[in-house]
Amino acid sequence: MSRISASPTLKVLIEAEKLRRQGVDVVDFGAGEPDFPTPENAKAAGADAIARNFTKYTPAAGTAELKQAIAARYKADYGLSFGESEIIATAGGKQSLYNVAMVLYQKGDEVITHAPYWPTIVEQIKIADATPVVVHTRPEDGFALHPQAIIDAITPRTRAIVLNSPCNPTGAVASEPQIAAIADAAARRGIWIVLDLCYEKLIYDPVPHNLPAVLADRMRDRTILVCSASKAYSMTGWRCGWTIAPAAVVSACTALQSHSTSNVASISQRAAVAALTGPQEPVAAMLEEYRRRRDNVHAWLTADPRIECVKPAGAFYLFPRVTRLLAPAGLQSSAEFAQALLDEARVALTAGEGFDAPGYVRISYATSMERLREGCDRLMTFLRRRERTVGTVATS
Ligand SMILES: Cc1ncc(COP(=O)(O)O)c(C=O)c1O
Repeated sequence: MSRISASPTLKVLIEAEKLRRQGVDVVDFGAGEPDFPTPENAKAAGADAIARNFTKYTPAAGTAELKQAIAARYKADYGLSFGESEIIATAGGKQSLYNVAMVLYQKGDEVITHAPYWPTIVEQIKIADATPVVVHTRPEDGFALHPQAIIDAITPRTRAIVLNSPCNPTGAVASEPQIAAIADAAARRGIWIVLDLCYEKLIYDPVPHNLPAVLADRMRDRTILVCSASKAYSMTGWRCGWTIAPAAVVSACTALQSHSTSNVASISQRAAVAALTGPQEPVAAMLEEYRRRRDNVHAWLTADPRIECVKPAGAFYLFPRVTRLLAPAGLQSSAEFAQALLDEARVALTAGEGFDAPGYVRISYATSMERLREGCDRLMTFLRRRERTVGTVATS
């Protein structure tokens, strides 16, 4: 356990929440979850599950009803057919990734992923006693995945490649040819690909993103899809995700889960069925609102030419580079920047250090336009105040 650090993304939330409980008005750009309510039909299905006493254990891998709803959704979205033996419901995408790590990786294995990354991906590789191998993507090309860089990182010890699209924290969306090139190389060597699709519904432009089919065409027997109701249906607290994988992997994940957490809460399973099978308009409405926020916040931030910020193609985060703001504000690192911003301006955001990207900060725009405007104003005032103070000290 000493090799593993607590989630830095949750740390910000905890610190901001502590201040809020003390009555402090904190603008929260740290949230990794949608601010919209769960769609009505999902809430009603949850309430109905309680009313009908659907409140007992279910099979550890989830109900047949939920697995069928997942299969129907992926058939509609990607044209792929999955059987119940290829699906396990999990307590969010996080448990899905965790099960896979415990089941597939062991000491001596290398697991490749790309940075900036969601920290849990790497910590779970370490929990499984395997070694993370990190390939960096760059802002110059929108944090695009370069297949050759991933392929160059492959060694005889490589067990799996974990890919995340759309990506937290960069919002980058992988293209089908990128994934195809990686899959071709992985398939030849018997390497697993774990594709984290937790933000799959949050892609702004109609770019082709049938990554599941690209993988299934090349290496269905080594493809693992990690998915979740959390972001798509604004259901983070319900804790419902799923893994779609070859039956042997699902069976191993089920055995593991049957001795740890067992089934996803029965009530949440019913709510997820409603979300997956019901009208998908709430998803589209949320996406439109995210788009407006993304465009505004991006414009507000980049009005200061020192803030370099890629406009993300997916998810709900901006990931600006703040290195040019640091020295004039008397700060050494993005971690110091985030701490000072919380202490002095009461704006919570997440420093890039946690994503293996020092010099950056992550701004979640899963909060109202008003609060986004307020937070950006506070950020600019904070910078001006600090620059004045540092300037005064320097000249005195
Ligand atoms: C990239 C990525 N994968 C998976 C998850 C897991 O979310 P959940 O466990 O709520 O499904 C998150 C949550 O922030 C994430 O950012």
